Amino acid sequence: PNLRKVPQGDFMRPATRTRMSSHSKKTNGVGVQVEETRICVVMVGLPARGKSLIAQKVVRYLDWLSINAKCFNVGSYRRTATPQPAASFFDFSNTEGERLRKAAAEAAVNDMCQWFRSPGHLIAVLDATNSTKSRRRWIKERCDSEGIETLFVESKCDDEELIMANIKEVKTTSPDYVGQDPEEAAKDFRERIKMYERVYETLDEDEADMTYCKIIDVGSQVIINRIQDYLQSRVVYYLMNLHIKPRSIWISRHGESEYNLSGQIGGDADLSPRGAQYAKLLPGLVSKSAGDRPLTVWTSTLKRTAQTAHNLPYEKLSWKALDELDSGVCDGMTYAQIEAKYPQDFAARDEDKYNYRYLGGESYRDVVIRLEPIIMELERSENILIVTHQAVLRCIYAYFMGVSQEQSPWMEVPLHCLIKLTPHAYKTEEERMSADVPAVSTWREKGSKAEHAQTPGPSARASPMIGAMSK
Ligand code: ATP
Ligand code: F6P
Repeated sequence: PNLRKVPQGDFMRPATRTRMSSHSKKTNGVGVQVEETRICVVMVGLPARGKSLIAQKVVRYLDWLSINAKCFNVGSYRRTATPQPAASFFDFSNTEGERLRKAAAEAAVNDMCQWFRSPGHLIAVLDATNSTKSRRRWIKERCDSEGIETLFVESKCDDEELIMANIKEVKTTSPDYVGQDPEEAAKDFRERIKMYERVYETLDEDEADMTYCKIIDVGSQVIINRIQDYLQSRVVYYLMNLHIKPRSIWISRHGESEYNLSGQIGGDADLSPRGAQYAKLLPGLVSKSAGDRPLTVWTSTLKRTAQTAHNLPYEKLSWKALDELDSGVCDGMTYAQIEAKYPQDFAARDEDKYNYRYLGGESYRDVVIRLEPIIMELERSENILIVTHQAVLRCIYAYFMGVSQEQSPWMEVPLHCLIKLTPHAYKTEEERMSADVPAVSTWREKGSKAEHAQTPGPSARASPMIGAMSK
């Protein structure tokens, strides 16, 4: 077989589409493509309403889907002139404060418009309070003049307790308050919010001509207006699924399989005796980490994940989307056999592992696309344990930890190791627990055709996987 590269942006050619905007002009004979749609997602809301968190999540999600996105945070532009302003800086009758804040917004919008001029730059998130109608109208007019669509996303929340918790969680450690007493910082930030409250105008019927999504009380109510095209609706659907309840996600590969022992890839083999031993130990490992929290277990439809999850005393769900990357004509072969029979393909896969698609099979890019509903469901859910396969686990891990497409297909994910991911505002915490059951290593270094090698007991291994905390 020849190297088969998946075209960039497969995700953006859905089978069904909603009405396209005037900027989505290019057609491919099948339907309208959305590559030319450029969208500015404009955050709206009082301080400490989760705008920056939402903005960063949207960018990470789009990046993971190979949609080029960037966040423009007006606060960081403002900080160059005014690094540590007191609350009075945000008083709207403070003319110097007003001037500096408008200048920061202008600088961010200018940079954003410049960024949009490069091909493939599709979605920018303009992260600021954008709390008045006049400010929003100005942004819309500026974007209109550049042929950029606008999608206003307002986070509205009046739960005083939640706002105070947000301030304590993220604001007292913000660069605005470096070196200051956290109590004083929280008090000052409360004052800052009051300044904004005096002039804040929520999105309403006066802005009925605008495309917007208003998220009230962390998604307990969502109002959407004039959503125009496929990409906008994807972003809005993603936003509707987000929640901020504390939870963890556990991920594990299946126990060692008979194919792992023989070095074969793919297939639907049973667990090896050591794999079965891991399946016996897994419930203990999970309960040590999760305590008595309610959990749901997701497996693939392949025997080795079902056998691994068999003893777990939780509700189980099996997903076809969690099946291992399909290695097509190479299914059941060892890496050495693939190299001997298809040397060009073997080299091509090493060259660009993320995009290489096995003949009759899949690439990592394909796997990410089929995992999109899994990510959406994970965002909606609370505590989930996923028992899946090497390539699939790499893709899920990459989403949560922000690992690049170049790195993620090469990450080492040992067998018989449970990974706990706990999302926090702005970072995901990672913890690894190894069961003391040896297993082969199925990791293959770039350029090698290594047989699956015996590894020392997992406890003896230093984890070479990427960082313990995501950005
Ligand atoms: P600022 O205007 O000062 O930049 P912000 O609105 O960007 O504030 P963030 O820094 O994103 O606020 O606040 C993060 C906090 O908001 C986290 O503690 C997070 O749990 C919480 N949060 C996330 N989403 C929401 C939401 N929809 N409503 C209220 N709080 C939220
Ligand atoms: O060897 C175990 C396995 O899950 C195979 O079934 C699969 O083809 C492979 O790992 C995916 O890893 P890589 O993409 O590194 O070949």
